[in-house]
Amino acid sequence: MTELSAVRAEGLVKDFGEFRAVDGIDLDVRQGEIFGVLGPNGAGKTTTLRMLATLLPIDAGRAEVFGVDVRREPHRVRQLLGVTGQYASVDEDLTARENLWLFARIQGLSHARAKAIARDLLDRFGLQEAADRPIAQFSGGMRRRLDLASSLITRPPLIFLDEPTTGLDPRTRGQMWDVIRELVADGSTILLTTQYLDEADQLADRVAVIDHGRKVAEDTPDALKTQVGESTLQLVLESEADVPAAVGVVRRLLGEEPVLSPEAGRMNVPLPDPNRAADVLIGLREAGVGISSMSVAKPTLDEVFLALTGHGTDDRSRTEAA
Ligand SMILES: Nc1ncnc2c1ncn2[C@@H]1O[C@H](COP(=O)(O)OP(=O)(O)OP(=O)(O)O)[C@@H](O)[C@H]1O
Ligand SMILES: [Mg+2]
Repeated sequence: MTELSAVRAEGLVKDFGEFRAVDGIDLDVRQGEIFGVLGPNGAGKTTTLRMLATLLPIDAGRAEVFGVDVRREPHRVRQLLGVTGQYASVDEDLTARENLWLFARIQGLSHARAKAIARDLLDRFGLQEAADRPIAQFSGGMRRRLDLASSLITRPPLIFLDEPTTGLDPRTRGQMWDVIRELVADGSTILLTTQYLDEADQLADRVAVIDHGRKVAEDTPDALKTQVGESTLQLVLESEADVPAAVGVVRRLLGEEPVLSPEAGRMNVPLPDPNRAADVLIGLREAGVGISSMSVAKPTLDEVFLALTGHGTDDRSRTEAA
């Protein structure tokens, strides 16, 4: 028998009227891992999480959290869970410290215990300085951290994070990643959704790619990248006139056809084995072809998404790539 899963879902379905937002999703999140659900706007990420968190009824299929049936025993499931939403669930007029204290009291902790936990979480999330200011004055990044902090009051074994870093600046994003890694080092299991390909790549042990309410792939970030193809040697030649010579070298050495870019002198060479890059570089030098830049890259998760679904992730990433 396999170890008890943190989350096991089979054939999850959610309909909003005529519209099927989640269309038969299976998930198996192992204890102690970071599992990423990756998909563009409207893919069904939040809806899936809300069903698993008992916040939305499951229309068809079934789900278990640490072996506890989500539909039959929602109150027990809630005790195993920390959930942070895409929107902060805190009282604007209270300070960060008061909010955490209040949450802890609502969870049934004593006054003294609630105070100690609030202090501890404010430290851990780097919110000491802002602790006694009302939330209304908080930046987006501070809100996200407070939101995550408040979900940890009861130290749940399973934490759901819905787009934990959307809209954060790069530095705050990095801090959030560190906090998430710490939680896992402390023994938590994390199920997070993201629209960021690099976030899934950085954090997740395994990733489910979802599109239009369906899972289109599931694997480790590395395996997903490999699924799309080999590594690529990206070359920029010093002189565009050398392109035919370079193409000849690649054909002769690798038996592969380089992909020429419309940009002058730029070409991508498919590599069956990243170690063959050196052969190509030596061959080019022997042929007197100068290189102004080179890199070996694995396909990005964006390219993975494109290969799996036939379209890119969203308009934002397309403009970034352009
Ligand atoms: N309460 C609702 N009533 C009707 N349609 C809904 C409701 N909630 C979500 N939807 C629709 O279901 C689909 C999936 O929404 P969901 O919020 O799960 O997407 P998501 O993957 O979380 O997207 P985002 O990245 O924008 O947060 C969308 O088309 C959305 O418009
Ligand atoms: Mg969402």
